[in-house]
Amino acid sequence: MSDNWSAKNPYMTRITENYILNGEGSRKETRHIVFELGDSGLDYKVGDALGVVAENPPHIVEELLSVQGWDRDASVTTHNGERTLYDALKKDFEVHMANKKFVQSLAEKVVSSGMNISMSMVSRSRNNSTWVASSEEKTPPSLLPSSPSDDPASKVEAINADTKAVEDYLWTRDYIDIMREFDVKYSPEEFLELADRLKPRLYSIASSHDAHPGFVELTVGIVRFEYNGRARGGLCTQFMADEIDMSGAPIGVFMSPTKSFILPEDKDTDIIMVGPGTGIAPFRAFMEQRVHDGGTGKNWLFFGDQSEKTEFYYKDEIESWIDEGHLYRFTTAWSRDQEEKIYVQHRLKEHGAEIWEWFERGAYFYICGDKQYMAKDVHRALIQIAIDHGGMSEEDATHFIEKTMMREEKRYLRDVY
Ligand SMILES: Cc1cc2nc3c(=O)[nH]c(=O)nc-3n(C[C@H](O)[C@H](O)[C@H](O)COP(=O)(O)OP(=O)(O)OC[C@H]3O[C@@H](n4cnc5c(N)ncnc54)[C@H](O)[C@@H]3O)c2cc1C
Ligand SMILES: NC(=O)c1ccc[n+]([C@@H]2O[C@H](COP(=O)([O-])OP(=O)(O)OC[C@H]3O[C@@H](n4cnc5c(N)ncnc54)[C@H](OP(=O)(O)O)[C@@H]3O)[C@@H](O)[C@H]2O)c1
Repeated sequence: MSDNWSAKNPYMTRITENYILNGEGSRKETRHIVFELGDSGLDYKVGDALGVVAENPPHIVEELLSVQGWDRDASVTTHNGERTLYDALKKDFEVHMANKKFVQSLAEKVVSSGMNISMSMVSRSRNNSTWVASSEEKTPPSLLPSSPSDDPASKVEAINADTKAVEDYLWTRDYIDIMREFDVKYSPEEFLELADRLKPRLYSIASSHDAHPGFVELTVGIVRFEYNGRARGGLCTQFMADEIDMSGAPIGVFMSPTKSFILPEDKDTDIIMVGPGTGIAPFRAFMEQRVHDGGTGKNWLFFGDQSEKTEFYYKDEIESWIDEGHLYRFTTAWSRDQEEKIYVQHRLKEHGAEIWEWFERGAYFYICGDKQYMAKDVHRALIQIAIDHGGMSEEDATHFIEKTMMREEKRYLRDVY
């Protein structure tokens, strides 16, 4: 069997386990999802990511066909060849979220549909011999919209005025909302020209292949939201959560190996892992691998999420690693279990002296999870630890964390998204 699986040629497999990790009453839906690797020949190491090729939710495709009055069986040609319009909308393009190109295209559509309205009204007037328009003449005042804000063309212009305005507009609306709002029609070809091609999503692998031969496991935060009375969400997370379980349909996967986010070669080296939320995924894999490999290196895991009661993912496994002596330290940051927010970087600073000792002994430092806020705050906390416990100036501390540990010694490693 080929092991040349890729984004363009994914291995079609099935999900064998798919369950929610959160306790009752949680605001989140984080799932543990297991894929069979069957006869694919696919292998992976801890730290790698899995690529998943999803499809659009059927109800969005159906609504789009209906709003535009398109024939689902019409034949269209896409980057993936000739197929029915239904299949193209379901599998080849991201139709669950609208893009800027589409909003920009409204400028032409809305102006010309505005003109169509005016001209059809004008020609009716002409037939009634009450008013005759020449191409130079202005639209009669009675045919103008009552206020500029009601004028669709002005609305489109305002939305496209700057990047922030387009982003704000797109945050709460998808193609269907926009098509309804402006009552615009596109041919399937016009629409497919504007829509983005469907891209696979990557997920940090949450299992060691040595511990789970023939399977690959993920920790996935399902993205769901609702606007304009319509349930919506993320393409890939909803597909894995909803569609695959219900239909048993095959799902495409491929491996995305890492060169840098790897365990130390020396199994006796200590490691510190910081993985709040779904950031725990690769560290479950690291722990499984360290247990399997049996070195003397100590493991220290920092984990956190909203509440201990509802977000203590992999509690049983973590407790048994502690009981069996595999997890030397386990430090938690439950952000919403008290009035003040407690985050992993607060815990890192509290344990600054000990972390610095670990760094001096050559420990590796790993971080996984939110790139926008958490990773930046943890990075600042590390610099602060070097200042407070390494007696360094801010400049030297920054140099030590960013140049020495990260670039030269390659023992500050990140998997952030
Ligand atoms: C290397 C790597 C590893 C990763 N590992 C993991 C992992 O282990 N677990 C995990 O869960 N994810 C992981 N991710 C993230 C993952 O790849 C996807 O980005 C994520 O699952 C969302 O994909 P989606 O297709 O469901 O959502 P998409 O269809 O891509 O939609 C997400 C987008 O929805 C929009 N959005 C979100 N919330 C709202 C809202 N309330 N209102 C309006 N718009 C909104 C935002 O623009 C957001 O970017 C990783 C990413 C990378 C790059
Ligand atoms: N949650 C989802 O549905 C979902 C799905 C897919 C991808 N994502 C993205 O994937 C990343 C991880 O999401 P996740 O659900 O795993 O976890 P998350 O939203 O990052 O939350 C995990 C923990 O981090 C805390 N946190 C918030 N801001 C922080 C900061 N500046 N520094 C440190 N900790 C902070 C959160 O606290 P509070 O929440 O109490 O502030 C929570 O306790 C995020 O970028 C997220 O946008 C999220």
